[in-house]
Amino acid sequence: MIDDLTLLTFESETAAAITGAASASALRDVEHAALGRDSRLVAARKQLGSLDPEQRRTVGKVLNDVRERLTAAVAARHDELARSERTAQLAAERLDLTEVPDSVVVGHAHVVTQTWELLEDIFVGLGFQVAEGPEVETDWHNFDALNIPADHPARDGFDTIYVNHGSPGSTLLRTHTSPVQIRAMLAQKPPIYVIAPGRVYRRDTADATHMPVFHQIEGLVIDRGISLADLAGTIEAFTEAYFGTGFSSRLRPNYFPFTEPSAEFDIQRPDGSWLELGGCGMVHPNVLRAGGVDPEEWSGFAFGFGIDRLALMKFGVDDLRELYANDVRLLTQF
Ligand code: DAH
Repeated sequence: MIDDLTLLTFESETAAAITGAASASALRDVEHAALGRDSRLVAARKQLGSLDPEQRRTVGKVLNDVRERLTAAVAARHDELARSERTAQLAAERLDLTEVPDSVVVGHAHVVTQTWELLEDIFVGLGFQVAEGPEVETDWHNFDALNIPADHPARDGFDTIYVNHGSPGSTLLRTHTSPVQIRAMLAQKPPIYVIAPGRVYRRDTADATHMPVFHQIEGLVIDRGISLADLAGTIEAFTEAYFGTGFSSRLRPNYFPFTEPSAEFDIQRPDGSWLELGGCGMVHPNVLRAGGVDPEEWSGFAFGFGIDRLALMKFGVDDLRELYANDVRLLTQF
């Protein structure tokens, strides 16, 4: 092993084996056989002792150089294999994201969400901002501030769900979106042009026309010199934008504690039939005061109506429960 020719053959054969190793484990075997404890190279080092000092130094250096070159070749091959293994793995795991296969079913927003968003779009287009309030509300925001004091008969009509928090009766699930009127007035100075869509709750048994959880949208305008004509004009503009040309609106006198005068508004379809949509009116001075707004300087109107029934109209079915039955055969159509 120690003579030049044998060493040269050993080095070139080992170098070829290193280059030819096709995997990390094959490379480890080559390395072990050529450079490991039982290798011929180590055996050759052990024979150095039998040489005279001059020769020992020369041959020792040659053996060292060979070991270093082979060790470097192993490291280089190791890097090469690691790199190609990584490339192969990346190629194997590559996902083609340029195409959605036909078999993937892509969902869409629920018809109530679609209606809610369309209403927002329309009112934002008319210059309104979207306001929000909590679904767990104080009885003050939901009732008192809206001119419905504790002994007011209108409270009974709301079938309120109370929450066990604070003193009894002080916390509830909002029965309408009207408390957002109060929150909007307390949060910003007039002029105010806001709508507030959201979820509301009432102690109702689900039937074709009632759900214990449903959706309303509230509108509130506070500015100088706002009159009933502004209210009627806004309802009419909304009607045309939402339902389309051929639809019109009318106001019918009604009573709500938080507005004076108050009205119900109806939509007339092109065939002449009427759809009762919601309530509206001029904001009551007591409500303005509760919101920190001076009734001598500012006036305003408010309106509110249900979102669910509008969504239901797309179904051509007359039962609110269909909206929440989660029957995909129905939901996928809208
Ligand atoms: N909050 C009323 C309800 O839930 C609806 C309503 C009526 C809202 C008149 C208003 C309004 O803003 O002016 O039945």
